[in-house]
Amino acid sequence: MSFDPNEISPKALRSFQESDAEINIWEGSVSSSKTFISILRWLKEIQNGPQDGPLAMIGKTLDALKRNVISPMQELIGPDCQYYPGRREIELWGRTIFTYGANDERAEGKIRGSTLAGAYVDELTLIPESFWNMLQSRLRVKGAKAFATTNPDGPGHWVKKTWLDRKHELNLKSWAFRLEDNQWLVKNNPGYIESLKKRYVGLWYKRFIDGLWCLAEGAVHDYFDELLHTILRPPPALSYFVAMDYGTVNPTAILLFGENLSTKPRSWVEREFYWDPAVTNRQKTDAEISRDLREFLGPIEPEAIYVDPSAASLKLQLQKDGFYQIQDADNSVLDGIRTVSMLTVSGEHAICRAARQTIEDKSNYVWNTKLAVKTGEDKPIKQHDHTQDAERYGLHTRYGQYRIDYNLLARN
Ligand SMILES: Nc1ncnc2c1ncn2[C@@H]1O[C@H](COP(=O)(O)OP(=O)(O)OP(=O)(O)O)[C@@H](O)[C@H]1O
Ligand SMILES: [Mg+2]
Repeated sequence: MSFDPNEISPKALRSFQESDAEINIWEGSVSSSKTFISILRWLKEIQNGPQDGPLAMIGKTLDALKRNVISPMQELIGPDCQYYPGRREIELWGRTIFTYGANDERAEGKIRGSTLAGAYVDELTLIPESFWNMLQSRLRVKGAKAFATTNPDGPGHWVKKTWLDRKHELNLKSWAFRLEDNQWLVKNNPGYIESLKKRYVGLWYKRFIDGLWCLAEGAVHDYFDELLHTILRPPPALSYFVAMDYGTVNPTAILLFGENLSTKPRSWVEREFYWDPAVTNRQKTDAEISRDLREFLGPIEPEAIYVDPSAASLKLQLQKDGFYQIQDADNSVLDGIRTVSMLTVSGEHAICRAARQTIEDKSNYVWNTKLAVKTGEDKPIKQHDHTQDAERYGLHTRYGQYRIDYNLLARN
C-alpha cells in the first residue's frame, strides 16, 4: 500500500479510528477523500471484524461500484484482491465479498436470503431506501457493521431525515467531509480544486462543493445574468440543431441552436419559436406545428431535431413531412439542468438576445420547494418551463454524455 500518512486530514484519521458503530457514514463534498478513507476502514474490517459470514459491497450499479470502489481497492492492495465479475464476487484474504448493483431488480431478492458479516455501500443517496432497509436486516452476524459514503442531497432525502438526523437515537456515526479534508489533493493538486469549484453552480455548488444538504429553492438557474450569458449577435455557425418542447394545451417552444466548436460560445440559442394557446386562445394541430417548424427554419437544414420523447403523434407528423433528423431527446431532468448550468457558466453556451422568452423564463423557472420538503425529490415547478425544457433537451442530448469524469482527472 502506498500513501503518505501526512496527507490524511485529522478528521479523516478520526473517522478511521471512531467508525465502530453499527452504521458508519462518510458524507460531504466531492473528492474530499470519503471513499479513500472508508476503503482503508473497510479493509481493516475485512481483517479484524466478524469473520463468520460473507461480506457485501453495494453500488448504484455494478459498473459504478467497480469504477468508484473496487478499482481503487485493487490499486491499494494489488493482486490479493481478485474481482470475478461473472460470479459477482471478490476474493480477498480468504474472505468472499458479494457485489450488488442496487438498481438491479434481482439484487434485492438475492440479498434477502443471506446473512452478512459486514457491508460497504457507495453513493448511498442513489440507492433505493428499500434496498438499504433490507441490507440492515441482513447484517445479523454479531458485531456486523455497515459503512457508506455519499454526497449530500436535499434535507428531505431519506438518508438525511431517517438516518443522519437521528444518529443520536441510532447506533450510527457520521462525518461531514469538505474538500480540505483531502490533504493529498490540497498538497499535490490545488489547481484541480479550483477547477472543480468552477465546474459546479447553483444547487450543485452548495451540495457538491460546500457539502451541504440544502433545499432546492428559488430559481433553478439562479446564476443566470443577462449581461454575462447572452450575446447580441451569434458567431458564424458551422452547424445547426433544433430542440422542441411540444404541447397542445400547453405552449410549444422550438429553439434553433447554432454550433461552432472553435468559437466561444461554441453553442448558442440563435432564435426561438413560441406558441402559447392560452394567450392566442387557439390550439394548433401537429400538421400546423410541423409547418411552423418549416417556416421557422427557412433555408437552414439542422443536423438534428431533438423532440420531447413523449410527443409520439408530433414525431410521426414531422417524419411524414420530411424531417428525417428527428431524435428522441434525453429527458433526464436533473442531469439535464446540470448540463445547461455547466455549459452556461463556463461560457461554452449562450443565448442570443432575440430569444426573449427563453431569457425571461430563466428567472421564473423555479424549484418545487414544497415537494422537496415533503418527499425529498428535487423538481422544477411545471410553469415557465417550456423554453427551459427545450434548451435542456438540446444541450443535454447533444453534449451530456461528453461530461468529463473529474475524479478520473484528479487521479491522473
Ligand atoms: N490520503 C490520500 N492519499 C492519496 N490519495 C488520496 C488521499 N485521499 C484521497 N486521495 C485521492 O483523491 C481522489 C478523491 O478522493 P475520493 O475518491 O476518496 O473522494 P470522495 O470524497 O469519495 O469523492 P466523491 O464524492 O466524488 O466520491 C481519489 O483519486 C483518491 O484516491
Ligand atoms: Mg467517493
